[in-house]
Amino acid sequence: MKILGIESSCDETAAAVVENGRKVLSNVIATSLEEHKLYGGVVPEIASRRHAESISGVVEEALKNADCKIEDIDAIAVTYAPGLIGSLLVGVNFAKGLALAADKPLVPVHHLRGHIASNYLTSDIEPPFLCLVVSGGHSHIVAVKSYTELEVIGRTRDDAAGEALDKAGRTMKLPYPGGVSIDKIAPEGDENAFEFPHPKFADSVYDYSFSGLKTKVINYVHNAEQKGESIIIPDLAASFQKAVTDILLSHLELAAENFGYNKIVLAGGVSANSRLREKADEICKKHSWELTIPELKYCGDNAAMIAAQGYYEFLSGVRADESLNAYATMPIDKLVVSQKVQANSYEI
Ligand code: KG4
Ligand code: ZN
Repeated sequence: MKILGIESSCDETAAAVVENGRKVLSNVIATSLEEHKLYGGVVPEIASRRHAESISGVVEEALKNADCKIEDIDAIAVTYAPGLIGSLLVGVNFAKGLALAADKPLVPVHHLRGHIASNYLTSDIEPPFLCLVVSGGHSHIVAVKSYTELEVIGRTRDDAAGEALDKAGRTMKLPYPGGVSIDKIAPEGDENAFEFPHPKFADSVYDYSFSGLKTKVINYVHNAEQKGESIIIPDLAASFQKAVTDILLSHLELAAENFGYNKIVLAGGVSANSRLREKADEICKKHSWELTIPELKYCGDNAAMIAAQGYYEFLSGVRADESLNAYATMPIDKLVVSQKVQANSYEI
């Protein structure tokens, strides 16, 4: 079964064709990242415009690279939540139009479920497993009980890990995205040079908080500026990266022990982080757990992961019709797919 995946939740316009949820036949990504770098973060209006300009060409190229015509596709899977609403709407509307015109089933896919599925593209891992999903907008520990049955065990109560890395990178005057820049310069620094707190909650040992760590970076930099002292940025970057990755992994390790998981999976943009990958490997070796990490090219946003998850959602009977909407937020475990709007329900 061939699924065409479409992804446009942030600044990547992506389309891919994946066979049986596992074999990537094509994977095309156009990104507006370079433009956002000028502003130190994603500008939603610019991202939406670039999606609208690129989407037809990207989908056409994905079909061509897979040596497919639209008639050869069995279903169209599209990211419908969570993400930037203007960005999501471009992909959702394009997918709805294409599904209607080509008479293909439409499968809505949750973006984070897609990130988890990026692991299916390069490994033969199957649920159940425990997954740390860490991206620019989310930091979750998820029990993946089956391909479509997920339960959140822990989550951030404020900033996501990627968001904290990006904001800390901005404070250190490093190029956007900060997560990537910090990973690059951290090996030049001393990771024990600066101290960071490890926030904990009385009512959940698995939940995260990263906003205090981000504020600590701001304080370190401002205090040094006020005293006219210079700060060694690689030391600060290395220490911050150590704090974030140690916190992420310590809660994951505890959850795996307490819930009895011996298959551990990483997913999301931050799973590209070298230290996170290295330390996850050490922890899993210590416990003799099996570790699965997406290939670097599938860590960031792409449509192959959406097509992979779309395949399993399709098999479990998930479908959308022309009333499919996009949602900026959506829990990973309780999905809303469709909200029929009555034509006469508006008050003028
Ligand atoms: O999954 P993703 O591409 O987009 C979202 O769904 O948010 O994640 C983007 C995040 C950004 O915060 C970026 O800084 C972070 O992933 N990231 C990294 C690395 N590569 C990307 N963080 C740390 N180390 C990296 N190598
Ligand atoms: Zn993402």
